[in-house]
Amino acid sequence: MAANKQQWQQVLPGALAHAEEVHVWCASLDLSAHQRENLLHTLSADEVARAGRFFFRKDQDRFIAARGILRNILGHYLGEAPRSIRFAYSPHGKPVLEANSGGDSLCFNLSHSDRFALYAVALNRNMGVDIEHIRYDVAVEQITRRFFSPGEASLLGGIPEKERYEVFFQYWTRKESVLKAKGEGLSFPMEQCDVSCIHGELSAVTLPGKNGEASCWYVQDLFPGKGYAAAIAVEGGDCKLSCFLYNLPKFP
Ligand SMILES: CC(C)(COP(=O)(O)OP(=O)(O)OC[C@H]1O[C@@H](n2cnc3c(N)ncnc32)[C@H](O)[C@@H]1OP(=O)(O)O)[C@@H](O)C(=O)NCCC(=O)NCCS
Repeated sequence: MAANKQQWQQVLPGALAHAEEVHVWCASLDLSAHQRENLLHTLSADEVARAGRFFFRKDQDRFIAARGILRNILGHYLGEAPRSIRFAYSPHGKPVLEANSGGDSLCFNLSHSDRFALYAVALNRNMGVDIEHIRYDVAVEQITRRFFSPGEASLLGGIPEKERYEVFFQYWTRKESVLKAKGEGLSFPMEQCDVSCIHGELSAVTLPGKNGEASCWYVQDLFPGKGYAAAIAVEGGDCKLSCFLYNLPKFP
């Protein structure tokens, strides 16, 4: 797979000035107890309750970290205290900012898998990110038959088994990123979203609509670290992607 591995910058980005700017942040979710405690205090009552429903402590800790970091990142762009940010949810569960909490222009999406989270932030455009920890215990053939296009399935079938899982997860994250950008749920036509043509740069993916009209999404692979696949999808139009690492002194 030809790929353009992006540089994750260790600087604090400035404000989003133009509609074409998209900022992606990568964060580790394995924090110290002290850092987690600080983040816990920024969560809303419903987020704290949700954290409490995780069965495993590790999942609870990572949820607190993922939401707390989200609040810090959004607070950075909005110039607001992380605790004061309020979310609303679409019918399919996609979180957005409440209108009077900056939601009239700042858009975001996040994804987490194992010990990493990715966050995408932009002005006035729908985006979706997806990250997956590459696992070797998934039923690749079964999932491919059900959710991949015939073209994708045939490309995947021609890849030596050793490399197949990595490409499978790369395709999967591209598809999920489009699904998440659209904000849809399980009704999303995964098999009609052919993502096999993406090579390095942002590439257009066209999706047939319910009434015959197509929609265009720009998709790019992201490389957060070894053992992970990830992608971002952005609603049509020019796009300038910049990537940042979260571990900065501003966010202790
Ligand atoms: C939501 C979904 C996209 C999550 O994908 P995933 O790979 O399991 O998880 P990810 O880590 O990539 O994404 C999770 C994050 O995406 C966001 N998210 C939730 N629902 C979303 C949606 N429909 N679209 C976009 N983003 C969504 C949330 O921020 C969530 O993080 P959280 O755990 O902090 O709340 C996937 O499970 C799905 O398709 N769900 C459909 C649910 C649905 O349609 N329900 C119908 C209820 S009537």
